[in-house]
Amino acid sequence: MPEVVSIHNLSKRFNGLAAVDGISFSVEEGEIFGFLGPNGAGKTTTLSMLSTLLEPSSGGATVNGYDIKTDRDNVRKSIGIVFQDPSLDEELTAYENMDFHGWLYNVPREVRKKKIPELLKLVELDDRQGHFVKTFSGGMKRRLEIARGLLHEPKVLFLDEPTLGLDPQTRNHIWDYIRQLNKEKHTTIILTTHYMEEADRLCNRVAIIDHGRIIALGTSDELKETIGGDVITLESPDGGRLMPVIEKMPWLSSAKEHDGVITLNVSEANRNVIELMNLLHENKISITSLKIHNPTLEDVFLYYTGKTIREREADTNEAMRMRHRMFTRR
Ligand SMILES: Nc1ncnc2c1ncn2[C@@H]1O[C@H](COP(=O)(O)OP(=O)(O)OP(=O)(O)O)[C@@H](O)[C@H]1O
Ligand SMILES: [Mg+2]
Repeated sequence: MPEVVSIHNLSKRFNGLAAVDGISFSVEEGEIFGFLGPNGAGKTTTLSMLSTLLEPSSGGATVNGYDIKTDRDNVRKSIGIVFQDPSLDEELTAYENMDFHGWLYNVPREVRKKKIPELLKLVELDDRQGHFVKTFSGGMKRRLEIARGLLHEPKVLFLDEPTLGLDPQTRNHIWDYIRQLNKEKHTTIILTTHYMEEADRLCNRVAIIDHGRIIALGTSDELKETIGGDVITLESPDGGRLMPVIEKMPWLSSAKEHDGVITLNVSEANRNVIELMNLLHENKISITSLKIHNPTLEDVFLYYTGKTIREREADTNEAMRMRHRMFTRR
């Protein structure tokens, strides 16, 4: 499959902060590619560079074969973008929003007339085409934005957090539309998310990004396999004593304590859990809960970063507060 996006050592610095720090990867035609990471990881900054809205500090990329630095017009014409922040005109109807966008992209009037109803149907908004956008729910606005992004038939569609803040049912619906347009229109889709489940269920391949760097990349199954075996999570009031006791067990590949929960990566959990229980008993270590599960992308993130995505986001928020305090004190 030909590559539609090819990124080489791409970086963006803001006042010394490396928001994107030398990332390289490619996306093939027809993929649904997910960019997964916590708040502030550099997802939007990457998409902004790929869609030519931000200039890279160093490195580069091509999109549909066009260089993002020297061939910006062609890059823009060949992509669709749906931003994290809604960008619809609330005072226009669904149809008018689409029509205006088509006009901006030089889509001929006749083509707009034919395609707008078609796309509104794809996202099940055909019966609302004459309604003002200000009367739409969050999910309906999102669907309209996706339909709008497709009007000029882009080969690649960038979706920045397509389901942020939507309820699970609407999220499922949007996943269906994304799959459908990927299949029917052969649109390559590159999306960002900080929802593990979204990356897991929707994307063919996932790049996990943290602090502007790609820490793991592959299919969801490949990523889970890299951490090896199964996962046991347990809670114990004697957590501090537990680690030294189990550390030397041959079936244990890693152990991490975070958020009051101990996560163990182990081989053959179903069998080895018995030895684990015996060990705990011998050492008079009590536990309050124990779960065995197959690895999730959350476990993958924890394995590589030592933190859960939620903890990482709390760190980022704290860093932002510190920066804000320093700034306002001056
Ligand atoms: N225009 C800007 N000026 C200065 N710093 C910026 C700017 N845009 C982004 N940043 C910083 O770059 C880092 C990456 O931000 P970015 O918006 O790419 O993260 P993100 O992964 O999209 O996060 P989120 O999940 O919250 O959308 C953050 O630390 C952010 O504060
Ligand atoms: Mg973002």
